[in-house]
Amino acid sequence: MKISIIGTGHVGSAIAFAATINPLAAELLLINRNLAKAEGEAIDLANASALQNSNMRIWAGEIADSAGSEILIFTASVPYGSPTRKRTDLVADNYAILKEWLPRLAEVSPDAILIMVSNPVDALTYAAIQLTGYPAERVIGTGTLLDSVRYRALLSAELGIHSDDIRAYILGEHGDTQFAAHSLAMTGGERFYPSDMSEKLFRQTVSMGYDVSSLKGHTSYGIALATMLIVDSIVYDLKHTMPVSVLIEDFLGVSDVCLSLPAVIGRAGVTRVLRPTLSEDEQGAFRRSADAVRANIEAMPS
Ligand code: 2OP
Repeated sequence: MKISIIGTGHVGSAIAFAATINPLAAELLLINRNLAKAEGEAIDLANASALQNSNMRIWAGEIADSAGSEILIFTASVPYGSPTRKRTDLVADNYAILKEWLPRLAEVSPDAILIMVSNPVDALTYAAIQLTGYPAERVIGTGTLLDSVRYRALLSAELGIHSDDIRAYILGEHGDTQFAAHSLAMTGGERFYPSDMSEKLFRQTVSMGYDVSSLKGHTSYGIALATMLIVDSIVYDLKHTMPVSVLIEDFLGVSDVCLSLPAVIGRAGVTRVLRPTLSEDEQGAFRRSADAVRANIEAMPS
């Protein structure tokens, strides 16, 4: 298995480190506009890998070197510049990076599964499908997976139930219009009903990316391990269901946009997009997310 990570900034290098301590590929290639940075990361990670009893080849290279990758992880991004800058504000600049890189990456790895991490991840996942020419099932955005992990962790601490036993999806946009699908929520075998507590925790979830960025300048570890959940499910064909950004085709009257719904992830990529029964309010929230992401897609230069 060959995995290529495009972008070795805070997020890309955190993903590379996670992939090193959980060596599930024979080869890990790091690509970065500043090649020296990728080379430094690769050597440092190879040092770590030597302690892992792993023979994974970790190296830095150019797009041509990524030929034959089974998984591409795209994290390249312009800097936020300010912790209060919205993810959606990056769309034009990051779309330019996708236009420059993705067609060439897809040309040399025509059968790869692409995991989009760069923000705004929903609009960029949609653009990635167009720019790579990959079938939609092979383009997965990290979407609201991290938001769902954050929300479950907050609920776990409040309820005293392990987060693995809390089914609580955050769906829609990985952004301000995301919503908690409480109509699907279960905590340790009990139906979970929204409350003032859950509303408070949900608001914390929505702002957590900005809160962390205002403290440390970016986020990295959470998104890195969320990305590795997707990678694991692909590599081992685990068929885990997770809320990730996928191309929506005729759900609640929404089509031709990328948003997070529960999707089954296996060796072929998205093997199934589930169609949960949402409450009226949640259906409205899903449509509002679709409108927000569509507006962001339209903000991408043609
Ligand atoms: C986050 O919420 C980077 O958007 C990502 O941490």
